[in-house]
Amino acid sequence: MRNGYWLAIATLIGATALGACKGSAGNNGTTGPEGTAGPAGPAGPAGTAGPQGPAGPQGPAGPQGPAGPGVDGGVTLSQVQDLFQAPDGGANKSNLDLWLIQPGGGTVMIEYANRFNNMWWAAHATADGTPSGTSTPNWDMVLYQIKEMTEIQEVFETTRPGAAALLKSFEGSYLTTAANSLDEVAKAAKAGTKTLADFEAAYDATSGGCNVCHGATGHKYVKIMRPTAPALDNVDWRGQP
Ligand code: HEC
Repeated sequence: MRNGYWLAIATLIGATALGACKGSAGNNGTTGPEGTAGPAGPAGPAGTAGPQGPAGPQGPAGPQGPAGPGVDGGVTLSQVQDLFQAPDGGANKSNLDLWLIQPGGGTVMIEYANRFNNMWWAAHATADGTPSGTSTPNWDMVLYQIKEMTEIQEVFETTRPGAAALLKSFEGSYLTTAANSLDEVAKAAKAGTKTLADFEAAYDATSGGCNVCHGATGHKYVKIMRPTAPALDNVDWRGQP
């Protein structure tokens, strides 16, 4: 066989398979062409964030807000009415801050007691200011103190609705409406149809009424009596001439 023939066969199907052939080994084949590049590898991990940039310039001022409710402190009249004139007397509003700073019974009662004291000294005013001087009751001052008592008790009635009925009943019996109430007796005394003694009787009856209520409301330790000294020592109980 000719070498050229076997060389061609070996090149095509590989020399070992034909080792039994008596022909000489063929030459190595030539290197094939380079393969194409493989696909790209996966992306690497993200880099760390860069440093913060400098602050930008200040923005323009925003638009003006809507007008407020127009009352100092930001509360409207209707809001106040809602808080303090609720149909239930405010009973379910008692956890509100504004409610908590309203005077309770004790605060009102101290003013009540002061005015009750004041009216005694106005009724017992004397011409020379001494206890033995000529009696010159200042009935207008007495009537004023009674009126102020009825006004301050309204605070108690509002902030402690549970006491309102008792207070109203007391007011009608001892302060204003009844024939022997302080107001009626003082007016009659001013008109000359009743006396200071009548007023003292009404006063003592009223003290009794105060104490009945103190007992009824669990405050038996509060007992009112005739005053022995004025609560205020800078008032001339005679008033002005
Ligand atoms: C409707 C019932 C009632 C009547 C009427 C009443 N009080 Fe009171 N008073 C009270 C209650 C309730 C207290 C306790 C107040 C509290 O604890 O909030 C009190 C407390 C007082 C205190 C103690 C106040 C203090 O905190 O130191 C005085 C003083 C007082 N009353 C005077 C009078 C006088 C004077 C009269 C009558 C002219 C009178 N009260 C009529 C219910 C009444």
